[in-house]
Amino acid sequence: MTTLVSNSEDMTEQIGEALGRILQPGDVVALIGDLGAGKTCMTRGIARGLGIADPVTSPTFILVAEYRTARGFPLYHADCYRLGDAAVAEAESIGLDEMMEGSGVAVVEWAERIDRLLPDDTLRIELVATDDLERSLTLHAGGPRGRLMMETLAQAAAGVLT
Ligand SMILES: Nc1ncnc2c1ncn2[C@@H]1O[C@H](COP(=O)(O)OP(=O)(O)O)[C@@H](O)[C@H]1O
Ligand SMILES: [Mg+2]
Repeated sequence: MTTLVSNSEDMTEQIGEALGRILQPGDVVALIGDLGAGKTCMTRGIARGLGIADPVTSPTFILVAEYRTARGFPLYHADCYRLGDAAVAEAESIGLDEMMEGSGVAVVEWAERIDRLLPDDTLRIELVATDDLERSLTLHAGGPRGRLMMETLAQAAAGVLT
């Protein structure tokens, strides 16, 4: 487990971009935190790092938005906010579990609502607003890919601050 601090929206996007550059099909990034914590901001950076030019917004009516990355595989951007009490069953019914199984990269906002479906080697990022422009990011790696993703974010954060 590692905790990083972001001092601006720009910094959250920049470290997300560094993460996006190393992501491979099968990688899952679980974003956990309240409204306004910076989950979509982080996703925007990740998308940029994957070479996606389309604007990334929270999927409002659909649960998952799919983008084509510059490297050919898809980015699935899911937002589980609107899932109800049967969140896990609803997510399975739209195939979110399969989207996290290898053909693309999955970034999931409100991932705590479907925690049971997350693969073992997921990178979990808990974002907490600690001040107007400050966010603490606590990282938990589930396996080797998660650890690589975690190290990439930590190095990027150290680079931004120097
Ligand atoms: N360090 C920071 N990192 C990310 N967002 C920040 C930061 N400081 C302030 N903000 C603001 O917090 C909000 C985050 O919004 P968003 O990414 O949509 O959150 P979420 O998807 O978690 O609901 C934005 O208005 C952004 O400008
Ligand atoms: Mg969001």
